Amino acid sequence: MSDIKKIKDDYIDKLNKENNVDKVNNIKSELFGKNGIISNEFKKLGSISVEERKKLASDLNKVKDELQNKISIKIQEIETKEINLKLEKEKIDVTLPERDIKIGKIHPVSQVIDEISSIFSEIGFSVEEGPDVENEYNNFTALNTPDNHPARDMHDTFYLDNNKELLLRTHTSPVQVRTMLKGKPPFKIIAPGRTYRSDSDQTHAPMFHQVEGLHIDKNINMGHLKGCLNYFIKEFFEVDKIKMRFRPSHFPFTEPSAEVDIGYEIKNGKIVIGEGDKWLEILGCGMVHPNVLKNVKVNPSKYQGYAFGIGIDRLGMLKYGINDLRAFFETDYRWLSHFGFDPLDVPSNYRGLSR
Ligand code: PHE
Repeated sequence: MSDIKKIKDDYIDKLNKENNVDKVNNIKSELFGKNGIISNEFKKLGSISVEERKKLASDLNKVKDELQNKISIKIQEIETKEINLKLEKEKIDVTLPERDIKIGKIHPVSQVIDEISSIFSEIGFSVEEGPDVENEYNNFTALNTPDNHPARDMHDTFYLDNNKELLLRTHTSPVQVRTMLKGKPPFKIIAPGRTYRSDSDQTHAPMFHQVEGLHIDKNINMGHLKGCLNYFIKEFFEVDKIKMRFRPSHFPFTEPSAEVDIGYEIKNGKIVIGEGDKWLEILGCGMVHPNVLKNVKVNPSKYQGYAFGIGIDRLGMLKYGINDLRAFFETDYRWLSHFGFDPLDVPSNYRGLSR
């Protein structure tokens, strides 16, 4: 035993001083390799008496365990030390000031959302948010669109389960429901965000952006809706006059309902807004249906108001002369550096929206 104990003590000493994984591995084979010191000790077991063998085997096993344990702890220690050293060396001081501030760009969609929020906040709207994954009640039923209503087909819904209970919201209108359920009238909110429909061509993408508007109070009428949208469109396009038309339409959650188009033309392959004889539909709107108000516990004989849903991407296309909606979502860096915005130019009404 004293022999083995000496071997063990020597090697524990050696291992303690080691700083290199390869060298630790060498020691390992020195001890446990085919002709390793400990392996050879085990071989001796065959040539001694049964009594001695029992004792030696148990001692040897203990030493073996101890040394193997020491080796794996040592390897781990060295590796941790190496990683920490590497992390220390590669540390980035994030508090250092940025040298080339123009590297990143704000995506046109983010820019347009900021512009829209800035315009509506000036006239008293606050900003609400809702989740992309909605339940069918908020997305349809509460919005007066019961099961089997044909408008459900129009929305080409991406359902997330076989029971059709969860879905990717097809519009931002469920935020109307969420907002009214959690508060008391009056309400004056916008809710920008992502929306999803199974649809894809030059002016439709399966994921797109809308901003919902909702204004509920006593004595709100369609005149307020028109005034609000007119103000918004002129502010957004930074012009005094705009070609805009209201077309009668149908949504289950508004009555009466309208769609709004704005006039544009294509000059030298670019969209020019406010001129020409082409129309692009940019929003749906109307007076909130009494059934919707009832569903969210608002008394329709006391309160009423308007709602609208604006296609954000299309507004961006019109304002910034972008022809193909799909380019918005292709994450092409060259496209982004051309159409993107300076991160430090936060849009605000008094500084100018899109400088
Ligand atoms: N949610 C409708 C759509 O996505 C738009 C809309 C919103 C219409 C609010 C009326 C009122 O097409």
